[in-house]
Amino acid sequence: MKISQRAARIEPFYVMEVAKAAGALAQQVAHTASPMIFLNIGEPDFTAPPLVQQAASRAIAQGKTQYTQAMGLPALRDRISGWYASRFGADVAPGRIVITAGASAALQLACLALIESGDEILMPDPSYPCNRHFVSAAEGTSVLIPTTADERFQLTREKVEAAWNDKTRGVLLASPSNPTGTSIAPEELQSIHEFVHSRGGITLIDEIYLGLSYEEHFGHSALALPGELGQSVISINSFSKYFNMTGWRLGWLVVPEALAPVIERIAQNLFICASTVAQQAALACFEPESLAEYERRRAAFKARRDYFIPELNRLGLRVPVMPDGAFYAYADCTDAAARLGVSGSWDFAFALMERAHLAVTPGRDFGHAAPEQFVRFSTASSMDQLKEAVARLESVLG
Ligand SMILES: Cc1ncc(COP(=O)(O)O)c(C=O)c1O
Repeated sequence: MKISQRAARIEPFYVMEVAKAAGALAQQVAHTASPMIFLNIGEPDFTAPPLVQQAASRAIAQGKTQYTQAMGLPALRDRISGWYASRFGADVAPGRIVITAGASAALQLACLALIESGDEILMPDPSYPCNRHFVSAAEGTSVLIPTTADERFQLTREKVEAAWNDKTRGVLLASPSNPTGTSIAPEELQSIHEFVHSRGGITLIDEIYLGLSYEEHFGHSALALPGELGQSVISINSFSKYFNMTGWRLGWLVVPEALAPVIERIAQNLFICASTVAQQAALACFEPESLAEYERRRAAFKARRDYFIPELNRLGLRVPVMPDGAFYAYADCTDAAARLGVSGSWDFAFALMERAHLAVTPGRDFGHAAPEQFVRFSTASSMDQLKEAVARLESVLG
């Protein structure tokens, strides 16, 4: 069957090959003393807290399951607006908030609304692999700019200015980032957006991990930038990570006021609305009891980071910048791979899987600059699992 060029441009998700192999091996070792530990997974080990689960059951029992408005339940948009004010000090009118089927649909809507065929979007290398494909599905071209640990693996204004040309439409950033868990310093973000805005470009910023921020200096939303800057940025967010609702498929997009009706038109046609049950449930995320639980979980994620990253460094899996958010560590595996007698992160990941029953994600999907040098560890597993992972790393690398 002939497939579209659009579909052909979407690269394979190599990580799935590792995940498939890890899944197959996990079955074989499930009942041994060393069952597989999955540190390759980018989702919290927590599920939606009780009030959220109850709200979902109630919505189903009461038949509150019809389509909602394309922009989402007004009450949910109000609550998100309130959360921006109380948690981030950002003034975000509910009319700028569009409820979507996860950050994924939010990214898709933003790209479809703003990118013309041939437009270039600048993004850091390494970054979340699907971003390249949202851009290419909208017939744009992603331009990956290699970043360094000194830059916290993020774009700088200097690099954005240097890469900007007649075809550039804007930047797509993520702060904190997947795979590095590092954020853009607020001053740098402001400076990048000032430049992009002055060129009539767009700043798309994926803030899906912002709720899971561990350091005061970095935990600020781009929507809180002063004046026109905060009003003109486009921010993507989700209930998947901080709110522990990955499979519920719910997220949102904050757009400048003038863009809201355009996004509404596209969303009406392409999606009708996001899941009504998930939206009804998500209202309960903002109850004081749920927010208190999310904050306890954030503290647990921070404690895992504080334990695991120093251990990786001690074992020679150097993490060049301490993550300030999310639940990832992007570790240089060059020395560790040599100690296992393999070279490159792909073979290292398979060696760890086979010899230590530890699944990790090699750098290949995240960019082209140094994929063989890095592996991504996820610290979204329990402390006990992380301790066992360290013991196994120690025994194979030791
Ligand atoms: C940086 C980033 N953006 C977006 C997504 C997609 O999230 P969602 O589940 O909200 O579609 C992910 C998922 O891992 C992610 O890491």
